Amino acid sequence: MIYLDNAATSWPKPEAVYQAMDNFMRHTGANPGRSAHQLSIEAGRIIYETRESLSMLFGIGDPMRIVFTSNATEALNVVIRGLLHPGDHVITSSMEHNSVMRPLRHMEKLGVEVTVVKCSSEGFLNPHDVEQAVGPHTRLVILNHASNVVGTLLPVAEVGQITRRRGVLLMIDAAQTMGCYPVDVEEMHIDLLAFSGHKGLYGPQGTGGLYIRKGIESSIEPLKYGGTGSRSEHEYQPDFLPDKYESGTPNTVGLAGLGAGVRFVLEQGVNEIQKREQVLTRSIIDGLKAIPGVTIYGDSDPRKRVAVVSFNISGLIPSEVAMQLEEYHQIMCRPGLHCSPIAHKTLGTFPQGTIRLSPGYFTSDDDIEGTLEAVRRIIATKARF
Ligand code: ALA
Repeated sequence: MIYLDNAATSWPKPEAVYQAMDNFMRHTGANPGRSAHQLSIEAGRIIYETRESLSMLFGIGDPMRIVFTSNATEALNVVIRGLLHPGDHVITSSMEHNSVMRPLRHMEKLGVEVTVVKCSSEGFLNPHDVEQAVGPHTRLVILNHASNVVGTLLPVAEVGQITRRRGVLLMIDAAQTMGCYPVDVEEMHIDLLAFSGHKGLYGPQGTGGLYIRKGIESSIEPLKYGGTGSRSEHEYQPDFLPDKYESGTPNTVGLAGLGAGVRFVLEQGVNEIQKREQVLTRSIIDGLKAIPGVTIYGDSDPRKRVAVVSFNISGLIPSEVAMQLEEYHQIMCRPGLHCSPIAHKTLGTFPQGTIRLSPGYFTSDDDIEGTLEAVRRIIATKARF
């Protein structure tokens, strides 16, 4: 079986991730930060170590500025719904996932003004267009770091200089770049960073988080209120991080796995992972380009994208190709719109979508060769009918 759906969730995970989760369930198991006994303290330590490893990865000075959420979507919702008020203006791009577009469209109904800056048909964003869109009520610019449809990287650092200069907050959805592309919140002037734990960080599903730059939390209402294990004498929500946004018992087993995943990334090195994924991406693009009848979307240069390749075969709909890839060749991929209709409109692939191949660090050269051969066979079979 060949797994090429790492943009949806990475799999397999490093062995240490399975071990950390198994260890937690068997030997710790307790609720962190609630009780004073040794198992509870151990559970709290595991969560703190995960925060620490993440802060090393993202250049965050204080690990307590990372809030754990159930996924990147929740992190995006915390900010979009907790920060923006009627009359505020927010800028985004035409390459976003519905995890950004849907909460923004909801806020639009409540009186928030939304500007969608158009990207090129390859998915690139011109930072100058973002600056042009900034107005007197602009509160937030929110962008993905890399498209989940074609992997195109958006110019985060350049936009960061603009937003810092113009006094606007910058939020980045790094769901597709964490662990496989360098991210430094200080260097890139990122004020708010949403990430998922189960993609390039190799944690389990149900993990993700949000980095909040110092001071901004005073302007963001939580999505959830409740017990935090801290300041229990008060009926009001604590105002400090991470507790303000972490009510309820956390997914400690998931965070144990996420910690092991992040340590794996730190050990391998983001640059090494990026290099390997670029090699795989180049092989897929070069291989597909040589097959008549295939159209590839996005830029051909693997240095301008992460390991996500979208393509179509003329005369076949994407779901039909994916079905054949799975049924006859045991290749797992994701066809369709990838929860990003606006990105497909930008690329000109709406409403049919594309077939998306997303290799990961554990994908082998043979996996790619096998996939290219499968595409050739699908096209050859089509030609016979
Ligand atoms: N956002 C994930 C994807 O692109 C689920 O498949």
